[in-house]
Amino acid sequence: MIKLERIGHVYLSVADQEVSKRFYRDVLGFAIAEEDPVHGGVFMTLGDNFHTLDIGQAPNPEVDRHPDLAGRPDRRRIGLGHLAFQVGSYAALRDAYIHLQAHGVAVKVALNHVNQRSLYFADPDGNTLEIYFEVPYALELFPNGRDDTDEALPLSKPGEPLPDWLLEDWPSPELKARIERIARQKKESVVV
Ligand SMILES: [Fe+2]
Repeated sequence: MIKLERIGHVYLSVADQEVSKRFYRDVLGFAIAEEDPVHGGVFMTLGDNFHTLDIGQAPNPEVDRHPDLAGRPDRRRIGLGHLAFQVGSYAALRDAYIHLQAHGVAVKVALNHVNQRSLYFADPDGNTLEIYFEVPYALELFPNGRDDTDEALPLSKPGEPLPDWLLEDWPSPELKARIERIARQKKESVVV
């Protein structure tokens, strides 16, 4: 039997290690756990394990000299679609949106996935990244699926007021009540 616990880390082969290191550290808030270009690259952590991201310089000198020659991530090709980072609250998702805009990172799409709301943007190499808040107990709340239609949420330009959906109280009071009910049930089942 195999029992994996979680995805441990992702290795990204990048066109410019310094540029990517600055992006993941200065924009996304990763800390550098270790830099070891010989045996990997830049090991970056969110503080919960040694590293969640390993950033390595692409070895092809053509890529170094002419980054445009490197194949860029493209959803139409086979390969990694996106990397998604979770935040712990809806307020943190709103803060992330404001933070990305303040750092000149364009949020390309925002989607309502019923159990989660997501922001999509790109890293310096064009890898799509996602930041999302997922409601607690999503598995219990949607045991038969979510009927997710990828509902697009409107975006604001830098300097414009934030879109309404980012300012509203989410999840809805009905969903919050169901979340609290599940939390209570779980607590009671532990006590019993
Ligand atoms: Fe995703």
